[in-house]
Amino acid sequence: MTKTSLKYIQFCCYTILFLLLLIHANSQVNVEEQAVLLNLKQHWQNPQYLSHWTSSNSSHCIWPEIICSTDGSVTGIFVSLMEITGTVPPFICDLNNLTTLDLSHNHMNEFPRALYNCSKLQYLYLSQNSFVGKVPDDIHLMSRLRELNIADNRFSGTIPASIGRLTELRMLSLTACQFDGSFPSEIGNLSNLERLELAYMKIMPARLPSEFTKLKKLKYLNVASSNLVGEIPDMIGEMVALEHLDLSMNNLNRNVPDSIGRLPRLVNFILFDNNLSGTLPPDLGRYSMLEEFQVSSNWLTGQLPQHLCDNGMLVNVVAFDNNLSGQLPKALGSCNNLGSLIVRNNQLSGSLPSNILSWKWLTILDLSRNSFSGQIPEEFGLLPYLNHLNLAENRLSGQIPLQLGRLAGSFVNLSSNHLTGRIPSGFLDGAYVRSFLNNPDLCANSSSVNIDKCNSKSSKIPVRFLVLIICSVIATLLLPVFFVIRVFVRRKHGLDLTWELTSFQRLNFTESHILSGLTDNNAIGSGGSGKVYRVAINPSREIVAVKKIWNNKRLEQNLEKEFLAEVKILSSIRHFNIVSLLCCISSDNSKLLVYEYLENLSLDLWLNRKSRVSTVPGSVQHVILNWPKRLQIAVGAARGLSYMHHDCSPPIVHRDVKSSNILLDSEFNAKIADLGLAKMLIKEGQSATMSAVAGSFGYIAPEYAYTTRVNEKSDVYSFGVILLELTTGRKACDGGDEHTSLAEWAWRYFQEGSPIVDALDEEVKELCYLNGMCCVFQLGIICTGTLPSTRPTMKDVLKILLRWNQTLTYGEQNTASDQYDANSNREIVLENNDATFTSTV
Ligand SMILES: *[C@@H]1O[C@H](CO)[C@@H](O)[C@H](O)[C@H]1NC(C)=O
Ligand SMILES: *[C@@H]1O[C@H](CO)[C@@H](O)[C@H](O)[C@H]1NC(C)=O
Ligand SMILES: *[C@@H]1O[C@H](CO)[C@@H](O)[C@H](O)[C@H]1NC(C)=O
Ligand SMILES: *[C@@H]1O[C@H](CO)[C@@H](O)[C@H](O)[C@H]1NC(C)=O
Ligand SMILES: *[C@@H]1O[C@H](CO)[C@@H](O)[C@H](O)[C@H]1NC(C)=O
Ligand SMILES: *[C@@H]1O[C@H](CO)[C@@H](O)[C@H](O)[C@H]1NC(C)=O
Ligand SMILES: *[C@@H]1O[C@H](CO)[C@@H](O)[C@H](O)[C@H]1NC(C)=O
Ligand SMILES: *[C@@H]1O[C@H](CO)[C@@H](O)[C@H](O)[C@H]1NC(C)=O
Repeated sequence: MTKTSLKYIQFCCYTILFLLLLIHANSQVNVEEQAVLLNLKQHWQNPQYLSHWTSSNSSHCIWPEIICSTDGSVTGIFVSLMEITGTVPPFICDLNNLTTLDLSHNHMNEFPRALYNCSKLQYLYLSQNSFVGKVPDDIHLMSRLRELNIADNRFSGTIPASIGRLTELRMLSLTACQFDGSFPSEIGNLSNLERLELAYMKIMPARLPSEFTKLKKLKYLNVASSNLVGEIPDMIGEMVALEHLDLSMNNLNRNVPDSIGRLPRLVNFILFDNNLSGTLPPDLGRYSMLEEFQVSSNWLTGQLPQHLCDNGMLVNVVAFDNNLSGQLPKALGSCNNLGSLIVRNNQLSGSLPSNILSWKWLTILDLSRNSFSGQIPEEFGLLPYLNHLNLAENRLSGQIPLQLGRLAGSFVNLSSNHLTGRIPSGFLDGAYVRSFLNNPDLCANSSSVNIDKCNSKSSKIPVRFLVLIICSVIATLLLPVFFVIRVFVRRKHGLDLTWELTSFQRLNFTESHILSGLTDNNAIGSGGSGKVYRVAINPSREIVAVKKIWNNKRLEQNLEKEFLAEVKILSSIRHFNIVSLLCCISSDNSKLLVYEYLENLSLDLWLNRKSRVSTVPGSVQHVILNWPKRLQIAVGAARGLSYMHHDCSPPIVHRDVKSSNILLDSEFNAKIADLGLAKMLIKEGQSATMSAVAGSFGYIAPEYAYTTRVNEKSDVYSFGVILLELTTGRKACDGGDEHTSLAEWAWRYFQEGSPIVDALDEEVKELCYLNGMCCVFQLGIICTGTLPSTRPTMKDVLKILLRWNQTLTYGEQNTASDQYDANSNREIVLENNDATFTSTV
């Protein structure tokens, strides 16, 4: 294989060379600083996740949570998600050169004023803790702060006006905090601010301070759902750097200032759920690369802005529940990137656009409850990803084009129009009985859709039909009786006897709660090893995920015990980044595994462009998995796998790591699912069961081909594939042609010396992320090396990702060793001295 080529070896040598240099550089241990860190650990009562912080002769600079400068002094501490309780002690400032402190996602409860004495502190992250009380009035004493995130805490009191004196701030987040009073206008004094997050705050109703419009460098403003009232300040048009404007879910009224339409960099325009009226800025989209346009649920009138898609970047048009009128903008038809067009419940009119073949990504088209007229263009049936077409309650006429039949299987509603002729044959099944209502002149070739049968104009009903009708009436009457009997019989014959529940923690449900929820309506997915259901438990309404495996007797009797034993081990694992298993319910021929339910389902759904917009009834959610989020997911998944490989005894090998097994909670924290299951499947030793693994083509390490002795390094391979997916946006099996995988493609691409930048996912590519994306791409290549021994351990991988997480999401700061130039330098800085890794090369 090409992977063993000279270049590869050379490449690895470089890596190791770097490694040695680094170890050398770090060889003088700064004993005082190590002592401070060890005291810190003790002060926090030795958190389990910091158990590797021990005094040893090796440098603390290799601990994944610590960043040092080249001369070996600590500049960053990253202890997010470490279950730390307590306070920040004053002696932390004995680390003279500390610039970054990330304490987010812990359980701290007192604002760390001790940090005032850390004279170099620039980046402070305190989000998602349990801080109570006031944010101190003298917060301006931390005058060097460039980024301050205190989101999602339980503060009270007012937001101190002195926050406006932190003039070095580039980023400020108070999201999801609670305060008395309103936003201090002094925030408008933060002239360097680029990112301001004030969303979901519990705060007094107030206007958006017009002083905020002085923030000439602000790129990102999010004040969603924070009790804004009054008008949007007219001067908002002077915030020339603005790219992301989200004022949704407030009570803003009056007009949207026209000046917003002239902002030169505006990408996201998000104003839904307000009380806005008047017309929309006519120039919107004309001068900037607009991607998001969300104005639903307001009182807007007039036309949709005609230039919305002038720059061709528009992805979502969400404008339902308004009073918009006129025609759809002509240029919309040639909008290449359009993913959804939702204008339900307006007064829009005119004919439907037919020059729409460039809508190749369109998934949702909802034009219902308007006054569109004319025919349905046959082009609607040719859109490859369209899966939701709602044209109900318009004035459409003519025949339904036969091409529309291609949408069979998707949501379609053409009710309440004036359509004539036949319904395409694909829709003649029960799923579409409510899709063609109230079109008096439609007919169907079969009677299954509740619509007049074509050619049955003769007034005499044939005898055949009468018999049929009488039979069906009788059947309908008898059906309930039959069901009652059936249920009765099932009860009697021990539904409860055949199912056995083995719980691993205290449960507030029984097997019958779960079993009654296993209906097709509740199914949320199916994979190689079974079907997954989303079950709401009555009466608590708590939601669990239930995986049903093996519908037949695949599991041999003697494996039954082993299965339970294994499941028990897995259930004992408690880790933030691993989905917890609540119980197992088994019967003779079927096993149910009950897990915690994670709102955002699995990673693969989010990487697949089709799922970027989801319509939960009554609301439209749209989330882009941007690079910081993707990196956060990579770090979380690496943490979970690293725990399984290195902290469990015996180590647990997952064997089926893939993006559909990485689940995401509401905050996009990654959790590994299905661990150990694949291994159990393999144990049966039947070739059929290999399909559970073969189902994950693209993720399987090459050694599967020649040995059954797979180990942790096979998981590392699969994880590398996920890194490649995250960076390139391609699917694991997408290697350009049908026989190559993404991993093989990436290696070839790298080897040919093509610019890595061009391989990255255009969806998330931004200048400030390029270095990091390139590096994670290369890490993906290293992880997918052909020889297991050349792959790093999960611990190494985590270490490297954490470093990049720091340099990427937290601003421009760099430690010397993390410098990476995507074009001139193709080496990866692998900073670790893990014995197993170095010794193998
Ligand atoms: C560790 O450092 C101490 C002094 O700091 C030294 O005496 C000892 O030999 C060192 N041990 C190793 C294994 O290098
Ligand atoms: C930290 O910064 C100081 C300057 O404030 C510098 O002299 C020193 O070399 C740095 N390193 C350590 C370990 O203190
Ligand atoms: C900062 O340090 C000085 C003396 O070193 C001390 O008096 C003061 O209380 C400290 N401030 C805080 C907020 O800890
Ligand atoms: C800060 O803003 C307030 C009110 O917005 C203003 O009165 C004050 O002069 C500003 N301070 C500075 C230093 O610019
Ligand atoms: C919305 O605005 C109108 C005036 O434009 C006002 O009469 C109405 O009370 C507002 N609705 C709410 C819920 O504030
Ligand atoms: C919306 O438009 C309709 C018809 O043009 C009109 O009757 C209605 O009053 C309008 N509603 C609002 C809130 O402007
Ligand atoms: C319905 O049946 C007629 C004649 O049986 C046939 O010509 C026509 O193609 C069918 N239409 C559809 C939509 O199936
Ligand atoms: C289609 O729209 C009509 C009228 O708006 C509604 O009654 C019907 O339930 C809808 N059908 C489906 C399948 O949603």
